[in-house]
Amino acid sequence: MEKKRIATLSFNDGTPSVELPILSGTLGPDVIDIRNLAKTGMFTYDPGYLSTASCNSGITYIDGEAGHLYYRGYPIEQLAEKAGFLEVSHLLLYGDLPTQQKKEEFERKIKYRTMVHDQLMTFYKGFRRDAHPMAVMVGVVGALSAFYHDSLDINNPEHREISALRLIAKVPTIAAMCYKYNIGHPFMYPNNELGYVENFLHMMFATPCEPYHANPKLVRALERIFILHADHEQNASTSTVRLAGSSGANPFACVAAGIAALWGPAHGGANEAVLKMLDEIGDISQIPKFVARAKDRNDPFRLMGFGHRVYKNMDPRAKVMRETCYEVLTELGLQNDKMFEMAMELERIALQDEYFIERKLYPNVDFYSGIVLRALKVPLNMFTVIFAIARTIGWISQWNEMISDSERKIGRPRQLYLGQKRRDFVPISER
Ligand code: CMC
Repeated sequence: MEKKRIATLSFNDGTPSVELPILSGTLGPDVIDIRNLAKTGMFTYDPGYLSTASCNSGITYIDGEAGHLYYRGYPIEQLAEKAGFLEVSHLLLYGDLPTQQKKEEFERKIKYRTMVHDQLMTFYKGFRRDAHPMAVMVGVVGALSAFYHDSLDINNPEHREISALRLIAKVPTIAAMCYKYNIGHPFMYPNNELGYVENFLHMMFATPCEPYHANPKLVRALERIFILHADHEQNASTSTVRLAGSSGANPFACVAAGIAALWGPAHGGANEAVLKMLDEIGDISQIPKFVARAKDRNDPFRLMGFGHRVYKNMDPRAKVMRETCYEVLTELGLQNDKMFEMAMELERIALQDEYFIERKLYPNVDFYSGIVLRALKVPLNMFTVIFAIARTIGWISQWNEMISDSERKIGRPRQLYLGQKRRDFVPISER
């Protein structure tokens, strides 16, 4: 029998040492279970969770050094090539790829729920037309909690499933409505004759006067973006969803919190930031100047779409997206477009430059997905919204896993306090 590994934490001030069990997962590095540490009255200090596993999970596995990403054990490259987004959603939510019958059933359950409550449409009017669609997403998705009281018992697995299906089905509708409201077009109802991705494009680009005929190659490219972004273990937005959910908050509120966290440029806002950066660079001749700025420690400028907290090798999603990017550009005859030429030159330089090589800063998935979305004529301010549609399944699967976990506890980190020591109140006349 394998000997149980233990780590011993000793102190140089006479504090008795503490034995900390070492836990092994099915894959990946072992983790030190520090729960015993509480006995010493001390905590660990780990801003940004660089050395902390915040939970256990059986959904997604990343090996950042090797550049591997698996959903429920399946390599992302295989899923991106062979599966559809709803098949992947089934896999993430229920743990396995569906049989043909289960797949049809699941698709039916999603289609049946694509429409939103009519009353929800009036929410949009409360926003300025020029509001960022992510601001509207946070509000409207959060507002879903006010509509579905019939399925908000988080301790009831059936309720949790219905909420998950509602979110997967309605988030694309809500997202497309954000865009339509933004440009002053009437909302387009979902067309359940269409597949999930095509339906989203229809709600975005069709009008009551004209249908939208999607190019199947472009539909597949967007489906790949959805698959590649569907889950990514305990990233900032997923951790936000889990933390919000740990208090017992309802899934719609938790996913709205996830959308808010996703919005930041260091996370889901990166694909939008990539395009803004390319706009700012303006011309291929300016690239060396911007690369020099990115390398300058005294300049806050960073190359958007490069680097990743976990991947210290090429992000496997970026590899797939890079291929898709070239396919889309060729399909649309855009290989010589100025913006795309700039992006490719930036990629070339960064992959050869010592600064980026040393720090293992590879182009990430958002570098390429931004370019693909641009080619699909998705407006810039909708890029992160697309990411949110895709990540909804990851958020809700992780939330569901957490709620089902018998070890669930409210998420309540501690702190290293560096503020004032105790002091007495001074009346205003004496300050
Ligand atoms: N451009 C220039 N230098 C960089 C960059 C970059 N994009 N990213 C990291 N560095 C440097 C950084 O200055 C530091 O250098 P030094 O060691 O000399 O101080 C070193 O690389 C390590 O950086 P870090 O900030 O400690 O790394 P991190 O793991 O905390 O940050 C990151 C990861 C993704 C926030 C960061 O790489 C970044 O800001 N990238 C640009 C934004 C971006 O593309 N984000 C999308 C991430 S992928 C989508 C997702 O999964 O959400």
